[in-house]
Amino acid sequence: MPHMTQSPEGELGRHHAERAAATTEPSTLPKKLHIKTYGCQMNVYDSERMAGLLARHGYTQVSDAAAADLVVLNTCHIREKAAEKVYSELGRLRVMRDERRAAGDGDLRLVVAGCVAQAEGAAMLERAPFVDIVVGPQTYHRLPELLARRERAAGGQLDTDFPLESKFDLLPESAGQSPISAFLTIQEGCDKFCTFCVVPYTRGAEESRPGAAILAEARRLVAGGAREITLLGQNVNAYHGQGPEGRSWSLARLIRELAAIDGLDRLRYTTSHPRDMDEELILAHGQVPALMPFLHLPVQSGSDRVLQAMNRGYSARDFERVVDRLREVRPDIALSSDFITGFPGESDAEFEATIDLVRRVGFAQAFSFKYSPRPGTPGAVMPRQVEESVRGERLARLQTLLEAQAADFNARTVGLTLPVLFERPGRHPGQLVGRTPYLQAVHVTASAESIGTIRPVEIAAAFPHSLAGRLADQPPVADPLTRGALGAAHGPAQPEETFA
Ligand code: 5AD
Ligand code: SF4
Repeated sequence: MPHMTQSPEGELGRHHAERAAATTEPSTLPKKLHIKTYGCQMNVYDSERMAGLLARHGYTQVSDAAAADLVVLNTCHIREKAAEKVYSELGRLRVMRDERRAAGDGDLRLVVAGCVAQAEGAAMLERAPFVDIVVGPQTYHRLPELLARRERAAGGQLDTDFPLESKFDLLPESAGQSPISAFLTIQEGCDKFCTFCVVPYTRGAEESRPGAAILAEARRLVAGGAREITLLGQNVNAYHGQGPEGRSWSLARLIRELAAIDGLDRLRYTTSHPRDMDEELILAHGQVPALMPFLHLPVQSGSDRVLQAMNRGYSARDFERVVDRLREVRPDIALSSDFITGFPGESDAEFEATIDLVRRVGFAQAFSFKYSPRPGTPGAVMPRQVEESVRGERLARLQTLLEAQAADFNARTVGLTLPVLFERPGRHPGQLVGRTPYLQAVHVTASAESIGTIRPVEIAAAFPHSLAGRLADQPPVADPLTRGALGAAHGPAQPEETFA
């Protein structure tokens, strides 16, 4: 479960393989790849696809950069000083490489991918000439070719242009694993140009994948064991991919098609824009049982003037109307959102409007951020920038309220019996972790055969970022086991999910 107060600083390491021994003879052993992923779920997904692509060229993943022949930093540009952090990480890797070379202990290739690569471009190769490859989000599929060229070339390789061909056609499916809960990118890029956001510049124009390709990938994921699919896109509910019959499909239409796939029990989508929550999509929440009652719908602010300055295209009232309609068709829907405090020009009263909106709407979970001026965005040069200290104070107040709402939401599920999809073993023996329809992580004492099944779980206790429960479809579990399940859930939430 994401931490409610997580800032865009949150960083997601994604390691599938065990730590491997250092390679002494790279030519005879499989090559070792380490990917460090920063930022949003889209980046996590891109990292998986890069790993899949490189697996075809003999790379296996290792969890430790020190054991790798190739390190990819998949970067995120949303947060402040993102580029500086990448440069300092590169500095550390360079030292490691130099030591390795001096000891005659092999070599290390360094690749920078993602949005910082896109934004920095050639400047990165100038400032960090020891980097081998800089590759933008649109050109990952060329990584093997760039690596091969790198073996022959003297200088670093740069490929951050938006390609003419669709990257969807060229990337292989993500490799190997078939997680119970899988991600599937259906849309990329954004044309909305919110005045604080770099995405339209780094990820490019909005592009939707054709419906048939998505259905085919979903069927493959289900055949591989997935029971839940989360549809991903920077602006996922703006989806307008071509349907097989040639007409454009909306997200609602796509969801209905996906829901018909046998064995696909749960569907989610993220991240949505309030402007694109049309009636057809809202109705799907009331009519498609597989569509889970949880929605991440970033509102950013509760002040109409600030929303306008942000170029969001809706008012606070518009947002609340969407929420009201959603609750009419699906009364138990849990809402999540993103907020920014201290956008340029935000007055005390305008910030209070955000607090008021949060009180009126009520959120099960949320992400909130201090406004961070991103170079190249209109917000960065707006007059009346808000003092850092004020941005911080407002953030702290907002987070206190949002945390209380999240704790209250979790507490209200105690005593309920909810269907839980078991995804993986917990950190303690005999314990599994699953999710409720409301995306809450639940720790339950259950045997590994339950992984991949949906079973009723009585929620026994709530913690800030997770729940503990017991299986409700079998006789009560002996006391010591029950205590094990509850005790184990006291640990910190596993920070493995975040939303764009
Ligand atoms: N400053 C602060 N927060 C930002 N976000 C995006 N850009 C900025 C920025 N410049 C937040 C928004 C968005 C989430 C992914 O990150 O709330 O919804
Ligand atoms: Fe697009 Fe979302 Fe960024 Fe706005 S905040 S420009 S909708 S990605």
